[in-house]
Formats: sequence, C-alpha cells, structure tokens
Amino acid sequence: MSDRPFFVFPRWSDTATKIILAAAVLIPVYLVILLGYGANARTLNVNYQPIQPVAYSHAFHAGKLGINCQYCHTDVKRAAFAALPPTQTCINCHAAIAPHSAALAWIRKSYKTGMPVPWKKVNDLPDYVYFNHAAHVNAGISCLICHGHVNEMTQVYQAKPLNMAWCLQCHRDPAPFLRPRNEVTNLNWTPANKTRLAKDLGLTTATLPKNLGKYLEKRYHIPNSKLLTDCELCHH
Ligand code: HEC
Ligand code: HEC
Ligand code: HEC
Ligand code: HEC
Ligand code: HEC
Repeated sequence: MSDRPFFVFPRWSDTATKIILAAAVLIPVYLVILLGYGANARTLNVNYQPIQPVAYSHAFHAGKLGINCQYCHTDVKRAAFAALPPTQTCINCHAAIAPHSAALAWIRKSYKTGMPVPWKKVNDLPDYVYFNHAAHVNAGISCLICHGHVNEMTQVYQAKPLNMAWCLQCHRDPAPFLRPRNEVTNLNWTPANKTRLAKDLGLTTATLPKNLGKYLEKRYHIPNSKLLTDCELCHH
C-alpha cells in the first residue's frame, strides 16, 4: 500500500501523462476565459491611474468650473476617437489664469516648442477590437456608463473592465442604459427630473413614455441584439 494521498497521480503515470491530464483540464478553462470573459490583463485593469505629466484635475475643471466634456474632447460625438485636447485649449484660459504656476510648466513648454504633452493613455482596448465613440454617444449612452464620475476625479482612472463580457452585457440589452442624447455629457443627469426629461424629448410630462429605455431604443433606431452581438461588429 502506498502512503501517498489518493488524489496524486499514481506511480505508473509518467510526466507526459501528467501534462496531458493537466492540459485536458486547463484548456477548456482557458477557452472559457478567452471567449467569454477576456484574458487580456490590461483591459481588466479597473482603477488603473497613471501619473500624468500635468496634474490636471477633471473634478476642478469639468466638475467645479462646469466646462463641458466636448470643449476639450471635441470629436467625441463625431468620430471614433474622443481625442485629447491640444495645448492651445489649455492656453485659452491659462495664458491669463495662473500663467506662472509651476503645475503648468509642461503646458508652457509644450506651447513654446509645439511638442505635445505626453499624456498617458488610461483606457486602452487591444488593437484587434473596433470601438467607436460617436456611435455610442449619439445612441444616448453617457460617458458616465463607461468612464464613471470623471467630473469628480482629481486624476482620471479606469472605471470599468472594458473586456468582451462587459461590452456584450450591454449589447445584449442596451435599453436600460439609454438617456436623451443631449444629456450624455451631463454626468449628474437623472430620469427623476420629469420636467427636464419632457423638455429633452420634446414631450410634456403627461405624454412621457412609461419605459424610457424601450422608447429611446425605437426612437434612436438602435440595432437589435442579434446585430449588436455579431463578432464582425467588433472584430473586422
Ligand atoms: C461588442 C463588441 C464585441 C463583440 C460583438 C465580440 N467581441 Fe470579442 N472581444 C471584444 C473585446 C473588447 C475584446 C478584448 C478583451 C480583453 O482584452 O479583455 C475581445 C476579445 C476577443 C478574443 C480574444 C480573447 C482575449 O481575451 O485575448 C476573442 C478570441 C474574441 N474576442 C472572439 C469573439 C467572437 C468569436 C465573437 C462572436 C461570438 C466576439 N468576439 C464578439 C469585443 C467584442
Ligand atoms: C479642460 C479640458 C477637459 C475637459 C473639460 C474634460 N477633459 Fe477629459 N481629459 C482632458 C485631458 C487633458 C486628459 C488627459 C489627462 C488625464 O487623463 O487627466 C483627459 C482625459 C480623459 C479621459 C481618459 C482618457 C484615456 O486615456 O483613457 C476620460 C475618460 C475623460 N477625459 C473624460 C472626460 C469627461 C467625461 C469629461 C466631461 C465630464 C471631460 N473629460 C472633460 C481634458 C479635459
Ligand atoms: C475655462 C478656463 C480653463 C481651461 C480651458 C483650463 N483651465 Fe486649468 N484652471 C482654470 C482655473 C480658473 C484654475 C484655477 C486657478 C487658480 O486657482 O488660481 C485652473 C487651474 C489649473 C491647474 C492648477 C494650477 C495650480 O497652480 O494649482 C492646472 C494644473 C490646470 N488648470 C491645468 C489645465 C490644463 C492642462 C488644461 C487644458 C487641458 C486646462 N487647465 C484648461 C481654468 C481653465
Ligand atoms: C460605450 C462605452 C463608452 C462611452 C459611452 C464613452 N467612452 Fe470614452 N472610451 C471608451 C473606451 C472603450 C475607450 C478606449 C478606446 C481604445 O483604446 O481604443 C475610451 C477612450 C476615451 C478617451 C481616450 C481617447 C480615445 O478616444 O481613445 C477619451 C478622452 C474618452 N474616452 C472620453 C469620453 C467622453 C468625453 C465620453 C462621453 C461624451 C465617452 N468617452 C463615452 C468607452 C466609452
Ligand atoms: C452601455 C451600453 C454599451 C456598452 C457598455 C458598449 N456598447 Fe457598443 N453599442 C451600444 C449601442 C446601443 C450600439 C448601437 C449604436 C447605434 O448603431 O445606434 C453600439 C454599437 C457598437 C458598435 C457599432 C458601431 C458602428 O460604427 O456602427 C461597435 C463596434 C461597438 N458598439 C463596440 C463596443 C465595444 C468594443 C464595447 C466594449 C469595449 C462596447 N461597444 C460597449 C451599446 C454599448
């Protein structure tokens, strides 16, 4: 009788058998991770918060001062990429406001030399995935859903996992995430303000739809979930 516990491989199993057995167990597990949940560690990096070359605060500029997201991310409703603002956008104010601040050293240097500020990318999808900001924003999906309360962030961090399962969970049923298009950059929007909602939709409080999500899905001609979960949509 062997005194080894029963669950170790028996003596007759050589190394090759052990490898085959281990692979037989692990390959399906890996495939599930790969296909269903995304195995790219970078996309799953929620809370990733690189130190930026300039201590620019969204909480102050977009929150307290109330500058609209589109003032800086000008292409977000028109193009696939939201794009970062050129240094000129900062200089619009900072030529006169805090012009000698040490915190703005990079901005002045960039403005003088034409060298862009080396901002570090926070949210980053793998190159084989197609993504398009305009398609989402114009369908009534707020920055809030994908980036969190940026207007309260002193330094931006990644708010959501951005893996395939996360994309698909909305693509299977986007209705609950929809809001009036003109409110997508208003991160404090709430459907509870009926007067504002009626105005946004060009309706009266009495004619507001019971199910806002389903109503907007129709009104904005959102494609059905079969089309939205087609592999070709995001991998082409
Ligand atoms: C709504 C967009 C979307 C659709 C539709 C979609 N994918 Fe993906 N897919 C992604 C994203 C995003 C990633 C990147 C995941 C990561 O990096 O974690 C990905 C990654 C993958 C990977 C690589 C896995 C990895 O983590 O390295 C494979 C394989 C894949 N998808 C296959 C498919 C197949 C097959 C379909 C159709 C059944 C499909 N995808 C439909 C968004 C999508
Ligand atoms: C005054 C200009 C300005 C305004 C207004 C502004 N941003 Fe930004 N945004 C920037 C700059 C500069 C960066 C790059 C540095 C950083 O990450 O903080 C950035 C970065 C970001 C990022 C991270 C990009 C990445 O690499 O993944 C997101 C997300 C973002 N902004 C969303 C928003 C949202 C949402 C709003 C509106 C609530 C907004 N921004 C308003 C200037 C601005
Ligand atoms: C609409 C005007 C406006 C724009 C555009 C603007 N800022 Fe500001 N910013 C301000 C104001 C106002 C302050 C507060 C100044 C103070 O406290 O003296 C400030 C403060 C700052 C500070 C802190 C300065 C310090 O000494 O503490 C930094 C850093 C900064 N802004 C970076 C940026 C960057 C980077 C951009 C471009 C992406 C930008 N700002 C665009 C108005 C603006
Ligand atoms: C449906 C989800 C989603 C919505 C809605 C969304 N974003 Fe993004 N955003 C992303 C993803 C995913 C990335 C990373 C893209 C990449 O790496 O290719 C990103 C990247 C960015 C970037 C970095 C530059 C770029 O284009 O890659 C900025 C800036 C940004 N978003 C701002 C915004 C603003 C402002 C809004 C609202 C007006 C918004 N986003 C709405 C998912 C979203
Ligand atoms: C909160 C909901 C939501 C999330 C999260 C989301 N999407 Fe979408 N996506 C939509 C809706 C709604 C549409 C349909 C827009 C339309 O055509 O009106 C769409 C359309 C698209 C399209 C088609 C764009 C075009 O040019 O027609 C692509 C590609 C896409 N999404 C990729 C992604 C990827 C990749 C992710 C994850 C990183 C993602 N989406 C996350 C709701 C979402």
